[in-house]
Amino acid sequence: MTRETTTQSAEETIAFGRTLTELLAPPKLVLLRGDLGAGKTTLVKGIAAGFEAAEEEDVTSPTFTLVHEYRGPRATLYHIDLYRVDTARELETLGLDDLRSDNSILLIEWGEKFPRLQRECDVQISLERQSEMERKIIIRSQP
Ligand SMILES: Nc1ncnc2c1ncn2[C@@H]1O[C@H](COP(=O)(O)OP(=O)(O)OP(=O)(O)O)[C@@H](O)[C@H]1O
Ligand SMILES: [Mg+2]
Repeated sequence: MTRETTTQSAEETIAFGRTLTELLAPPKLVLLRGDLGAGKTTLVKGIAAGFEAAEEEDVTSPTFTLVHEYRGPRATLYHIDLYRVDTARELETLGLDDLRSDNSILLIEWGEKFPRLQRECDVQISLERQSEMERKIIIRSQP
């Protein structure tokens, strides 16, 4: 399945993220792809709000802590940033496998550099910067 949209502001990207609860019903491993500043973390604000797991303003980039956890009534979201993780060994020490469960959703930025995560992911969401404010968002989910 492929779904595509274009947004004209961060607020629109958040609103789009709020609509993804059905598509991202747990358990899921989701790769969020796109350059620095593409809007991956912004989209997670909407996803977390949609699952009533966090207020959008409370969702911030897990740049230094690598994993942020948001618990909602229907799912526990783990927002993960692998920008600074370079080797498969470092990835293993994060223990992402331990986070996977029937009601968990892993939302991973910069995960595509690890073939194992590419193989195991259920959904890939790509964000492409078209201009200062415009983003093309493409969702590909495995059947
Ligand atoms: N249409 C849009 N959708 C999302 N963000 C937008 C849009 N237009 C402008 N922006 C701005 O782009 C920036 C996106 O930053 P964000 O932290 O979400 O990117 P990121 O992909 O997570 O980057 P990084 O790889 O550095 O973590 C924000 O400052 C946001 O306000
Ligand atoms: Mg980010």
